[in-house]
Amino acid sequence: MNGRPPIARVSATARFLPDQVMTNADLERLVDTSDSWIRERTGIRERRIAPDDITAVDMGERAALGALAKAGLEPSDVDMIVVSTATPDRLLPSTACEIQSRIGASRSCLAFDISAACTGFLYALSIAEGYLAAGRGETILVVSTEKMSSIIDWDDRATCILFGDGAGAAVVQPSRNGEGILASFHRSDGDLAPLLQRPVGGAAKPLTEESLRNREHMLLMKSGREVFRSAVRSMAHAGNMVMEEAGLDVDRIDLMVPHQANSRIIESTARYAGIPMDKVFVNLHRYGNISSATIPVCLDEAEEEGRLVPGSVVLMTAFGAGLTWGAMALRW
Ligand code: UT7
Repeated sequence: MNGRPPIARVSATARFLPDQVMTNADLERLVDTSDSWIRERTGIRERRIAPDDITAVDMGERAALGALAKAGLEPSDVDMIVVSTATPDRLLPSTACEIQSRIGASRSCLAFDISAACTGFLYALSIAEGYLAAGRGETILVVSTEKMSSIIDWDDRATCILFGDGAGAAVVQPSRNGEGILASFHRSDGDLAPLLQRPVGGAAKPLTEESLRNREHMLLMKSGREVFRSAVRSMAHAGNMVMEEAGLDVDRIDLMVPHQANSRIIESTARYAGIPMDKVFVNLHRYGNISSATIPVCLDEAEEEGRLVPGSVVLMTAFGAGLTWGAMALRW
């Protein structure tokens, strides 16, 4: 293996999933769909849904505190908090500042949100890596928290079957013993923004009674098929670029953690990358697509299950609205 020595490592992860389970059978009672269609076309069996009184900040707070505890750190140790979310509690101020306050991080820490949809966790890890490389801090908290149920049109069978709620967090610290980020590759294509968006509710098109009635402030996917094709193409390309940059042969990858949107997307991406499915982490059947929280939740579960141990090489790939996409190779 060649490539540059790593700068930043993930020293701990944690997750929070709400208790309430929504099964495909529950969805059959809401829209014209069936358990068999959802399982065959997506691989999803159930997802978690947060109750009204649990928000993205609440879930992010719990994941953040869990990750800090696992790393043996105090909130006062955190130099920067980067939050990725498509479902902030409010538009201003950021979810990150609210989490900073909730966990009691010090005022010498900076906190901000990024908007990169499902790719947000990988983008945020790269921002953390850059901050450490610039020598501006020692401990960075990356939190991905998503209450997708709050932006879903529960009458739209094309989208309501796909998503779930949850949060994941990672503590990022300077590398040691060759552990950490080996290579990354991130891209976006704003020309494809109309494929997946919330058309109304921003400054350009503020909410009106009519747009609320028409649910134009909810998540709208124009062509699932086109998103599907772009996802496979872009994640496969990003994964290959990362393996090339890190000088990793495919048999050096111990675990692939792809974004969990659709089991057919996961299988196609793994096939393109040449990675057998027994090396691919999948929890989609239990949680659906938790947007940017997906990858940290997977990492946390993979470690708990013993599929990630110190020294394991993990290849992560993600894509989402924007469109955004990326991949990262990391030695655990
Ligand atoms: O993070 C990014 C988030 N987005 C995604 O990841 C989406 C990626 N795309 C996908 O996962 C798949 O395209 C879907 C699961 C969304 C759809 O699967 P598909 O195999 O591409 O189906 P399709 O959109 O081509 O629709 C096939 C049929 C249509 O009926 P007709 O026109 O053939 O009569 C749809 O109306 O399936 C129908 N359909 C459904 N039927 C039952 C669409 N949604 C449903 C549903 N239940 N929930």
